[in-house]
Amino acid sequence: MTQVSEIMQTMDYGPSTEDSTAAHNWLVCRGSFGHFINGAFTAPGETFETRDPSTGEVLAQVSQGSDADIAAAVKAAREAQVGWAALSGTERAKYLYALARHVQKRERFLSVLETLDNGKPIREARDIDVPLVARHLYHHAGWAELRDTRFLSHAPLGVCGQIIPWNFPLLMLAWKIAPALAAGNTVVLKPAEYTPLTALAFAEICQEVGLPAGVVNIVTGDGATGAALVASDVDKIAFTGSTEVGRGIAAALAGTGRKLTLELGGKSPFVVMEDADLDAAVEGVVDSIWFNQGQVCCAGSRILVAESVAERFETLLRVRMARLRVGAPLDKSTDIGAIVDPVQKARILSICRAATEAGAELVGGQPQEGCFIAPGYLRNIAPANPGMSHEIFGPIATLSTFRTADEAVELANNTRYGLAGSVWSESATVATDLAARIKAGVVWINGANMFDAAAPFGGYRESGYGREGGAAGMLDYLAEPLVKAAPEAAPKSPVAVTEGTGPAGQGIDRTAKLYYGGAQKRPDAGAMYAVPGGLAPLGSRKDIRNAVEAATKAGKWAAMGGHARAQVLFYVAENLSARAAEFAARTSGAEVEAAIARAFHYAAWADKFDGATVQAKPGHLVTVIPEPMGVVGIACPNSQPLAGFLSLVLPAIAMGNAVVAIPAQDDPLAVTDLYQVFDTSDLPGGVVNIVTGPRADLAVHLAAHDEVAGFWHAGDPQELAAIGRAGTGNLKPVWAVPSRDWTGPQAQGEVFLRHATRTKTIWLPYGALPAGSGSAAY
Ligand code: NAI
Repeated sequence: MTQVSEIMQTMDYGPSTEDSTAAHNWLVCRGSFGHFINGAFTAPGETFETRDPSTGEVLAQVSQGSDADIAAAVKAAREAQVGWAALSGTERAKYLYALARHVQKRERFLSVLETLDNGKPIREARDIDVPLVARHLYHHAGWAELRDTRFLSHAPLGVCGQIIPWNFPLLMLAWKIAPALAAGNTVVLKPAEYTPLTALAFAEICQEVGLPAGVVNIVTGDGATGAALVASDVDKIAFTGSTEVGRGIAAALAGTGRKLTLELGGKSPFVVMEDADLDAAVEGVVDSIWFNQGQVCCAGSRILVAESVAERFETLLRVRMARLRVGAPLDKSTDIGAIVDPVQKARILSICRAATEAGAELVGGQPQEGCFIAPGYLRNIAPANPGMSHEIFGPIATLSTFRTADEAVELANNTRYGLAGSVWSESATVATDLAARIKAGVVWINGANMFDAAAPFGGYRESGYGREGGAAGMLDYLAEPLVKAAPEAAPKSPVAVTEGTGPAGQGIDRTAKLYYGGAQKRPDAGAMYAVPGGLAPLGSRKDIRNAVEAATKAGKWAAMGGHARAQVLFYVAENLSARAAEFAARTSGAEVEAAIARAFHYAAWADKFDGATVQAKPGHLVTVIPEPMGVVGIACPNSQPLAGFLSLVLPAIAMGNAVVAIPAQDDPLAVTDLYQVFDTSDLPGGVVNIVTGPRADLAVHLAAHDEVAGFWHAGDPQELAAIGRAGTGNLKPVWAVPSRDWTGPQAQGEVFLRHATRTKTIWLPYGALPAGSGSAAY
């Protein structure tokens, strides 16, 4: 045994192991686990082992959930949901408060159990995960109380299926269960196969607080159990995990009308500017990429450092890295614990191997016996190196340099992901500029991996969609206000005619053109189809591509700001009014009146759909900003062509998006004439682009386009499955806009603006804080 005198010599940390007796006793006492369905544990079925990855010790036998288990759990949740939703907000809040209190009471037990099952250092489980679990439950107890006043016209969704990963098992459970319950939903949750134990302990807490049976159901198992949950009769799936599985779930749910939120992978930039506090930034790396062994979806795994300070930064980084202690997770002085499973360890090492084979140099990052890998980073790494593009999901960062802020932004955004980013600069101007330009759902300034229940979390692009936390997270667990449905006539099959040889002279007085990039264009194939009053271009895939390209060039529209956009929209209203009689002759007086009203309405909103500063941690300015999506694809309804088109296009552009719209298939000419109104209203070219033709086909091409960030479809729901599947390439959200009277009051409002934007959460710690205190592991 180490002598005190020796420790005085070496000043080494002595062993300081957290006691795991209570957790081990609980495991022995429980033996094998069944599922938690309808308020009780089922008898164990076919089981699998869950192990302590740091020792390989088998901790427990856990049941592999079958289709029948999932069906039973969904049935229990369905039956419980009516009663749960009927409770008052205060009553639901009391249960959530009770869950929070009981989690706090069992804080030590839960942290130890989490560390045993996952391999993360006890300091993280104890100081970050479990306190945040309680925080989420408390925060959402508050939302339960406020739901009926704050979200007045929103109803719960029903039963939510929730699938969570292994990196933050209990925390992800709380992120998913708390808002669902607060909103009045019931849940079936499937924990990850590597880490099911804290979810099962949470089930006991549900029993302890007397949560009504069936409100929370937990079914353990692997991906097959998850797939059964996706295929079941739930109203929403909330998934956190790999992009690959998320994409499959999006495809499976396409066209079903079920709600989906996806929180997927990331390859987040960690940008160190030349004026950064380098010591603090190095501490930030510890908190960002070496935290939880790098098994964090939002880890700042791509370190980008200003060339002028790169050498000093790297020296500091190496010194700090050498001092990190890799070892037993239960030891309170361990920094880096175990990788969750040998499968993940092998995966990490294989990506590192591919990176070094492609020319990168690995510093540190050596595998150790068991499930351990020392912290490290890849240097001299080219942008095309697999280590730069793959989510390593282990304690290995990449390190590269940049010369200018513009280059930093370009490199930061050179990824298909968009979950998070971390920016280090002592200049508020520089840091906020970068935070605004990084395409990610969360950006931390002079900090990393800060989380709070009040601060929405979620991604852009292939990191998924939907938010967890705060009011935005609540809305993702609520149904949108009901609209009075107004079914539309199915579009007729368009018959191609060649211009000049068509039915001109038989009452057809004109031919329309496509409109993109601010100019009228002939369709690529030259084909037209007959519509009331003339011929319309039969748009093709190529026309869609051209229109999207034009839309991507309209970026300055977003940068103009709400006030400038409002002026353009007021001008559209004015110019439409001036030509009201002409448009009314083509459509109807009611449609024109509605169109003008929409332009005024969204001009009003253009500079008022605000973000918020939310109360996350004291000493942190946390701002939630609605940002435009980018290019939005819109398939318009076939009826009420003018009012339908403008009711969808105007809110999208009011928020700074560019739009490629497919107008009413059977009657597009009123819309193709709008180009004159847009031109005389100073709408910049490329903001609105119009491709006429067969909606179902064009919509699929548009939804499949990678430059299109979001898609809205108003029309035959039968078209949605193909559109949804097409949209899974870059994981764009598809909004199935319920058909309605497009001249009526339900054709406008905030719901359109919400779909036109996604939130970015920016964290800015303030005050003279010690280095690293902004970050998670402090
Ligand atoms: P995964 O995506 O396979 O697992 C996450 C969850 O999804 C687990 O509960 C799993 O059982 C479930 N699942 C798996 N296949 C499913 C299916 N077909 N249908 C429904 N549910 C399914 O992730 P995995 O294999 O554990 O890790 C692979 C990689 O994914 C990691 O190395 C990392 O890159 C990424 N990942 C990202 C996470 C994040 O927080 N965004 C969390 C975990 C993994």
